[in-house]
Amino acid sequence: MKTEIAPTETPNERAEAVARAVELLRAGEVVALPTETVYGLAADALAAKAVVKIFETKERPRFDPLIVHLPEREWLERVAILEAKSRSLVERLVDSFWPGPLTCVLPRTELIPPIVTAGLTTVAVRMSAHPLFAEVVRAFGQPLGAPSANRFGRISPTSAEHVAEELSGRIAMIVDGGPTEHGIESTVIAPRGGAIEILRAGPITREELAKFAEVRASTSDRTESPGQLPAHYRPQTPLIIAEDMTTIDVPDGKRYGALLWSDAPFSETFVESRRLSTTGDLREAAANLFRQLRELDRSHLDCIVAEAVPDEGLGAAIMDRLRRAARR
Ligand code: TXA
Ligand code: MG
Repeated sequence: MKTEIAPTETPNERAEAVARAVELLRAGEVVALPTETVYGLAADALAAKAVVKIFETKERPRFDPLIVHLPEREWLERVAILEAKSRSLVERLVDSFWPGPLTCVLPRTELIPPIVTAGLTTVAVRMSAHPLFAEVVRAFGQPLGAPSANRFGRISPTSAEHVAEELSGRIAMIVDGGPTEHGIESTVIAPRGGAIEILRAGPITREELAKFAEVRASTSDRTESPGQLPAHYRPQTPLIIAEDMTTIDVPDGKRYGALLWSDAPFSETFVESRRLSTTGDLREAAANLFRQLRELDRSHLDCIVAEAVPDEGLGAAIMDRLRRAARR
């Protein structure tokens, strides 16, 4: 299959890309679309046969449920049940953060095919703030299931080129919306007895969520959100995290690369270096993270050394991705 990367710079290109994407989705096909977090691989969330193609294309195991992206907020209670004890909390969260990078895990309705939720009784829902995604899902007129547009376990794509690296030849179309704004996947939460449980750290931080309710660490003993699998977002090159880059000793003849947070000078220890942010800005760091990891991963290194970032605010989400990238 030839993969078309559709530009959206001019009004004409944009209108054509949206129309073509909607046409493919109506035909039960998958399409890669930009969101404000990372690129998603979208298909009709209400059609099991279309959703199967997402799993096949990504080589994603069937036990890993998808996020359902809504065209309008009004769709929320068609796909999810707001229980009396958490209704007001969910409504306040959604009022504050939708459209945007917050995914809520809620009991599901019968409308959602079981394959979408991997047989779970809950469904993950969000509404994307990306104008192109919003336009496509509204024109389509019903929810889209969309995981990140990478092969399973690999680094999420933050540009159309990254999607092509992952899925070229497997999908008909990538809608090119340029680099994504946040660069890391949405925060996934579940309301629990009046409190908020964070299942995946993301752009909406623990500190922001704490203004709405008590935030609890995940209490379930099993991996509830499979994106929480210990080894995930995995570059092919081994990755280690360092608190202090000056302590790194490179064995003779080995090529090491650095992913830097501090303004320590690029050192000769490393044959390749990237700086997450030149101004100590965690938002910029998150937006650069996956692109720079990909670049380092392509540089034929023996090891990527990632410098630890402050483990708070958005830094917690960055550290979460780095720790998973470091697991083998
Ligand atoms: O920003 C994002 O969330 C991107 C864009 C495309 O929207 N999507 C994304 O999807 O990251 P994915 O499939 O790569 O990650 C979805 C995460 C996974 O960790 C999955 O296990 C979790 O959400 N999830 C989905 N449904 C769930 C459920 N019912 N209960 C618990 N976790 C769930
Ligand atoms: Mg993913």
